[in-house]
Amino acid sequence: MNAAQAPARPDAQWQQWYDARRAQVEDALARHIESLESHPTLDGRLAEAVRYCLTLPGKRLRPVLVLESCHVAGGEAERAMPAALALECIHTFSLIHDDLPCMDDGQLRRGQPTCHRVFGEAVALLAGDWLVAHAFELLTRCDVPSAVGPCTAILAKATAAMVVGQAADLEGEKHAANLDRVAFIHARKTAALIEACCAMGAAIAQADEPTRRRLSDYGRHLGLAFQITDDLLDCTQSTETLGKQSGSDAAVGKQTWPAAVGIEASRRRAADEVTAALQAIEWFSSRAGNLRGLARFVLHRDR
Ligand code: IPE
Ligand code: IPE
Ligand code: MG
Ligand code: MG
Ligand code: MG
Repeated sequence: MNAAQAPARPDAQWQQWYDARRAQVEDALARHIESLESHPTLDGRLAEAVRYCLTLPGKRLRPVLVLESCHVAGGEAERAMPAALALECIHTFSLIHDDLPCMDDGQLRRGQPTCHRVFGEAVALLAGDWLVAHAFELLTRCDVPSAVGPCTAILAKATAAMVVGQAADLEGEKHAANLDRVAFIHARKTAALIEACCAMGAAIAQADEPTRRRLSDYGRHLGLAFQITDDLLDCTQSTETLGKQSGSDAAVGKQTWPAAVGIEASRRRAADEVTAALQAIEWFSSRAGNLRGLARFVLHRDR
């Protein structure tokens, strides 16, 4: 695909929609964090670490995806909020552990010192552990009872896939960059959870099988595009813009798309994945306009 054929940037109207949805997620997250003050299983430094990590300014892409997939599948987005927060908890856990010295040794996350730098390694490890358990507790609060079982299964499988991908990512540092390895890692460490967001939104909407399949296909392609653009940003953007260390992948010899095939071929592949994501949701026509914008955003984001 050449640059002229690549999906265009989302427009200003889409940006307004995203800002509003993200604000809705921030609001629900803030209320939830406040309610944790009286949570029987959380206190002390661990509570501080969990609060610190959940409130750092992220894009909130995954919760927004859960809510919008639920809407596109014919459900009420608000009913998907507990599941949306559960996804943000799993994502936050993955970031805390990804940054540990025994993994990527990240110093900066979302523009601030990483969890282990502020609270120490043991508390960071445990904050991640707590967030996984809490995500599943959150899922039980979903007010569509028939969706709790399917959502639990989807999230558990995707979280396990993410961990498998992270293990392969670390193992990959010992080998020359190779596309088969990169594809294996990306499908698991990133695309699995992003696909799960869409599958869970559809499950909460109690959608039929074709709807679930279309949204899952969209999520998988979006997730693959997301990790390719993350790899590209690591070698093209500044640390200041990213809010995390740039150039860190090449420094340790990570398996990335740019390392395997170069920057231009990686850009083309990201555009192809976004095109495939757009095709997967063609059937929904105008109802999926905001999901289309989200796919375009993933391609053109600068952090
Ligand atoms: C970073 O995810 C980790 C990857 C899977 C590449 P995001 O880029 O969504 O991180 P935040 O949530 O916006 O900080
Ligand atoms: C992380 O991939 C994927 C996760 C499961 C967290 P990266 O290691 O590339 O994520 P960043 O660049 O540190 O956010
Ligand atoms: Mg990593
Ligand atoms: Mg990392
Ligand atoms: Mg990265």
